[in-house]
Amino acid sequence: MKVYAINGSPRKNKNTATLLQKALDGVKESAKDKKIETEIINLYDFIYTGCKSCFACKRIGSKSYGKCAVKDDIREILEKLSQADGLIFGSPIYLSNISGQLQSFLERLLYPYLVYDNNHSSLAPKKMPTAFIYTMNETEELMKKRGYLSTFNKIEFYLEKIFIKPLVMYSNNTYQFDDYSKYEAECFPEEEKAAHRKLQFPLDCQRAFELGVNLIK
Ligand SMILES: Cc1cc2nc3c(=O)[nH]c(=O)nc-3n(C[C@H](O)[C@H](O)[C@H](O)COP(=O)(O)O)c2cc1C
Repeated sequence: MKVYAINGSPRKNKNTATLLQKALDGVKESAKDKKIETEIINLYDFIYTGCKSCFACKRIGSKSYGKCAVKDDIREILEKLSQADGLIFGSPIYLSNISGQLQSFLERLLYPYLVYDNNHSSLAPKKMPTAFIYTMNETEELMKKRGYLSTFNKIEFYLEKIFIKPLVMYSNNTYQFDDYSKYEAECFPEEEKAAHRKLQFPLDCQRAFELGVNLIK
C-alpha cells in the first residue's frame, strides 16, 4: 500500500509540509501491521502547467482516454498516483485560494477522470481515500466570515466525485516568517502570532496525525 502527501507549498519544512508529514506519520501508525509506504511530493520541485484543454482525455477512442496526455514533469507522478491507496493534499492559502501550483496539479489529476456524462461519473482506476489540509494566516473566525469555506467546498466536491469525500482540517493563524521583526507585518503582531503558534500548532500537528490515522481506516 502507498499513501502520498502532495505539498502545495513552496516551503518544504514550514506549516503545510510539517502537517503533511504528521498526517503521514498517522497513516503509518494506523497501518502498523500492514506494509505501508508513504511519500511526500513537493509540487514546487517540478515544472508543469495546468490543463491545456487538449481534450485527449475525453476523445472517444483516444489512447489517452481518461488520462492526461500533457508531457511534462508530472506525467509520471500522475501515473503513480492513479495506483495510490490514499492521497493527502496540503496547501497554504494564497489570495483566498489554494496555491496556483496545487490548483494546476488538481486540474491535471482530476479533470481526465471526470466524465462528461449526465452523472459526471469518475474514471479513476481506484476510489481512494483523500484528505485536505489547509494552512493560512486568517483566524478560524475570519476564514469563515470571508467565505473561504465555499472555495474549499468546491475543491472537496471534485475530490469526492472522483475519489472519496476528503477528510479536512484547517490550520489557522499560522506563523509565516522566521523573524517578524524583519518584515512589514503590522496586521499580524508577532507576540500574538508567537503565542498562538506555541499553543495551537502542536494541537494542529496532533489533529493532522489523527487525520492520517483515520484516512485508511
Ligand atoms: C502569496 C501569498 C498569499 C497569501 N494569501 C493569504 C490569504 O489570502 N489568506 C491567508 O489566510 N493567508 C495568506 N497567506 C499566508 C499563508 O497562507 C500562510 O502563511 C501559510 O500557512 C503558509 O504555509 P507554508 O508555511 O506551508 O508555506 C499568503 C501567503 C503568501 C506567500
